[in-house]
Formats: sequence, C-alpha cells, structure tokens
Amino acid sequence: MATLLDVGCGWGSLSLYIAKKYSNCRITGICNSTTQKAFIEEQCREHQLKNVEIIVADISTLEMVASYDRIFSIEMFEHMKNYKDLLQKISKWMKQDSLLFVHHFCHKAFAYHFEHINEDDWITRYFFTGGTMPAANLLLHFQQSQIRSYQDWLANGKHYAQTSEAWLKRMDENMALIKPIIESTYGKDQAIKWTVCWRTFFIAVAELFGYNNGEEWMVALFLFKKK
Ligand SMILES: C[S@@+](CC[C@H](N)C(=O)[O-])C[C@H]1O[C@@H](n2cnc3c(N)ncnc32)[C@H](O)[C@@H]1O
Repeated sequence: MATLLDVGCGWGSLSLYIAKKYSNCRITGICNSTTQKAFIEEQCREHQLKNVEIIVADISTLEMVASYDRIFSIEMFEHMKNYKDLLQKISKWMKQDSLLFVHHFCHKAFAYHFEHINEDDWITRYFFTGGTMPAANLLLHFQQSQIRSYQDWLANGKHYAQTSEAWLKRMDENMALIKPIIESTYGKDQAIKWTVCWRTFFIAVAELFGYNNGEEWMVALFLFKKK
C-alpha cells in the first residue's frame, strides 16, 4: 500500500480527494487544528474512508519517525519560516525514491515577512500570522545535502485571482448558509465585521495576484527528490 503525507492538510481537500480516488493509498495529514481534524474525520465516516489518519501538531516542533512514498504540501509554506529546517525535517520522512511536491504562492523576485505593524495589517494578523511571502525561487536556496528540486514550475497569478473571485462569488451566493456559521464562529456582534473581512480578503487576493497580468505575484510548484 502506497503511503502519502499531506503536510498542512487544512480541511483535507487533497487528503480526502486522494483517499476517495485511490483506495490502495494510506494518507496521513498534518494540520494544527483540532477542528480541521474533526471535520476530516467526519467526512471519512460519511464516505466510509478507512485510509486517512490526521495528526494535529505544529509542524515546526513536530518530531516523528516515519517514512512516506509521496509527500505533498499545498499552501502551507507561506505560514512558515526557517525553510532549511523545514525541508530537512520533511526530507527525513522521505525514502530514497520518495517525491516531495510543494505548492506555494509567491512574489516573482522578493521574499518578505508578513508583518503586523498596525491596525491596517489585519490580513496578516488574522490570516497569515508569522508567515512569509516567499520569492519564486526561495526554496531552491535551501536545497541541501538531503534533497534537490528536479522540476519546478510557475503558474501565472491570474489563475489564483480567478480562484479567489470564485470563492467570493460562492460566499455571496451562499450568504444565508454562511451567516449562522460566521455568527457561531465569531459571535453575533462580530458577524458583519467578519463577513466584510472575508469578502475584503478575497477581493485583495484577486487584485494582488491579478496585478501586472499575473506576472508579479504567482504560484510556485516544486518536485523534490532525495539526492
Ligand atoms: C492555506 S491552508 C492550506 C490547506 C490545504 N493544504 C489545502 O490546500 O486546502 C494552510 C494549512 O496549513 C496548516 N498549517 C498552518 N500552519 C501550520 C503549522 N504550524 N503546523 C501544521 N500545520 C499548519 C493548517 O492546516 C492550515 O489550514
């Protein structure tokens, strides 16, 4: 049975997709939220999936002895620092013929910290606390004795801009369903504020990644293997 690790699995979209499509794979997801774990486990029960295991841990401090055939990380590296340590840690979970696929958004040239300096920086505060905007080639600087990238791609930012616009449209179309979720998550008195925050977030992402015809901020994808 092939073993897969989904690092930063979030609400499990990739883990669940693979689990449903490839019943001969065993998938382990790592997330830092018990709510995400509970949601994924509920989905597994609903779809009778027995090949998913979710670990709740902070990846920066997690130590585990394990190895996987394929490792994925989709949009988690933006929440991280210390890429050398992170890649080294993940590489220890790879066998000699394992592959690591990393997807992160990026700026074409500059890496910068998401900094929370004042009230205006609420997107950093609420969505990317302690995170980083990587540069397109940032991870290549942290290749080391253990692993190297043998393929990498850049996807034009307009794709991500369209995704964010689709999220916004979906939110607006489903407001009646979303309102009680927002109220129970943030409190009734904060519901309007948070509805506006989420809408503004989607609009800001669409504008950022659509800027300069999608050639400024974009998505970087890497396939690493062991040296
Ligand atoms: C932008 S979401 C991406 C989720 C998923 N990979 C996807 O594509 O839908 C980032 C996820 O990374 C995970 N994450 C963020 N910081 C983490 C940390 N320090 N340790 C473990 N997981 C973390 C959380 O599960 C969070 O939902």
